[in-house]
Amino acid sequence: MRKKIVAANWKMNFTFQQAENFLEEMSSKLDEGVSEDVEVVICPPFLFVELTLDFANDSNFFVGVQNLSAFDKGAFTGEISASMLESMGIDYCIIGHSERRKFFNESHSELKEKVAQALKSKIIPIFCCGELFPERQAGEQFSVVQKQIQESLFDLSKHEFSRIVIAYEPVWAIGTGITATPEQAQEMHAFIRNFINMKYGTEISDNLSILYGGSCTAQNARGIFSQPDVDGGLIGGASLKADEFYQIINSF
Ligand code: PGA
Repeated sequence: MRKKIVAANWKMNFTFQQAENFLEEMSSKLDEGVSEDVEVVICPPFLFVELTLDFANDSNFFVGVQNLSAFDKGAFTGEISASMLESMGIDYCIIGHSERRKFFNESHSELKEKVAQALKSKIIPIFCCGELFPERQAGEQFSVVQKQIQESLFDLSKHEFSRIVIAYEPVWAIGTGITATPEQAQEMHAFIRNFINMKYGTEISDNLSILYGGSCTAQNARGIFSQPDVDGGLIGGASLKADEFYQIINSF
């Protein structure tokens, strides 16, 4: 059985006080219980990692980050390495989010380095892929996603790949309020699983968790999560409200 995961991507939101308030509320909700086979991940900005870890120690969620350095260590001012994250107790890292591809020009090869760094430090990459709106209009969504996965992940060994989580996030759905329909999500998730199956075999593809991201809310999560190849979500805006995020976690 592959893992069901719901991950919060806070992006660059919250002050320290707001983060603390959110975590207090979220932890008490999680104490009420979640379906035991759902793994909850919260990805704060780096600055709030320690705070989030403090809450995670007493609650049932994992902590991830939104980025890491492609470099090992040394003279890279402002960067944070995978081994630093590992030493803090971080379990997950979002890699290849479309905002990082767009605003920070992260290339396929840089993302490949980041994935390698994460795996070396036993951090699970949540590798994001997804097409732009004009690419979908041109019917290129499958080839775009295929290339993103191929270029950054296909040099991994079977063992390494077995530790990857993929998030399909159509760029036109992120932060826009326009969600992919459950059928569009299912179609792409099934395509990704099949494509991974051809490269890595059934055991790996059957166990691969593929999350959907892009304007996922408490209103639409159930329809999307009920699709056979959708194993959860990567949630942006709706993860900033404890109530709504908790509802999404319980939408399977
Ligand atoms: P959104 O963001 O839920 O606000 O659309 C999702 C994401 O970017 O991971």
